Amino acid sequence: MNETVSLLQAHRSSRSYKSDPVPDEILDAIIESAHRAPTSANIQEVSLVVVRNATSRARIAEIAGNQPWIAQAPVFITVVMDLYKTGLGVEKAGAEQVAQRSLEGIFFATCDAGIILATLMTAARSFGLGIVPIGGIRRDPQAMIDLLGLPKNTFPLVGVALGYVDHESQQRPRMPIESFRHEEKYHAEALRPAIDAYDLTLQEYWQKVGRKGGLTWSENTAEHCKAFSRMLKPIANKQGFTLEV
Ligand SMILES: Cc1cc2nc3c(=O)[nH]c(=O)nc-3n(C[C@H](O)[C@H](O)[C@H](O)COP(=O)(O)O)c2cc1C
Repeated sequence: MNETVSLLQAHRSSRSYKSDPVPDEILDAIIESAHRAPTSANIQEVSLVVVRNATSRARIAEIAGNQPWIAQAPVFITVVMDLYKTGLGVEKAGAEQVAQRSLEGIFFATCDAGIILATLMTAARSFGLGIVPIGGIRRDPQAMIDLLGLPKNTFPLVGVALGYVDHESQQRPRMPIESFRHEEKYHAEALRPAIDAYDLTLQEYWQKVGRKGGLTWSENTAEHCKAFSRMLKPIANKQGFTLEV
């Protein structure tokens, strides 16, 4: 074990924040760490929009489906898939960009955005801050686009709220590692027993933390994967993301 691994293994999302501001030098170091993250072919097609303004944070809390911790935490960073920026380079090189119309372009940008989100979270937690990633901004991406003034060929993929934690949350258990780590080839047979075990573990966890009506992993996954109320396609299309190739 070393300090970095201990920090990673202590991960938890925090949903209770003090209003104390994050010092500029700490925020700068967090963002500069994410700026150093690798990107596919060095394309650097991700941008961050840092919001500290309380009115804007309250608006984002509302957009994300009334998540009060977004308004509480002093900083909210939106991770933006930015194929506007790349388009300027492609144009300068005398070509036409098609990345925003391809699954490959969307895959590489989403992958790189995930690395940047993870780097922001790890750097923030290394300074003793709490974090909570926020996919809830995709409930109303158009409202985020308007609030942040995002141009064409960009999309607000995910955000992260960060600040000093008021009440710390308990760490959530994960599925058995056999469902995650496969040796040499994919072992589908490991999954059902792991899911059964984890459904029980999560029920015990909800009882321990006093949450009534907490769902098993299977039930929660069904809630999130059986149907989608977020209608992203028309807004993504309007932004320029059309899956043609
Ligand atoms: C991409 C992403 C989006 C998320 N969106 C939200 C969100 O909108 N609101 C929230 O409270 N938690 C959100 N979470 C946090 C997850 O609920 C949390 O990571 C998961 O339940 C496991 O708990 P833990 O992070 O405390 O280990 C998100 C996590 C990720 C990775």
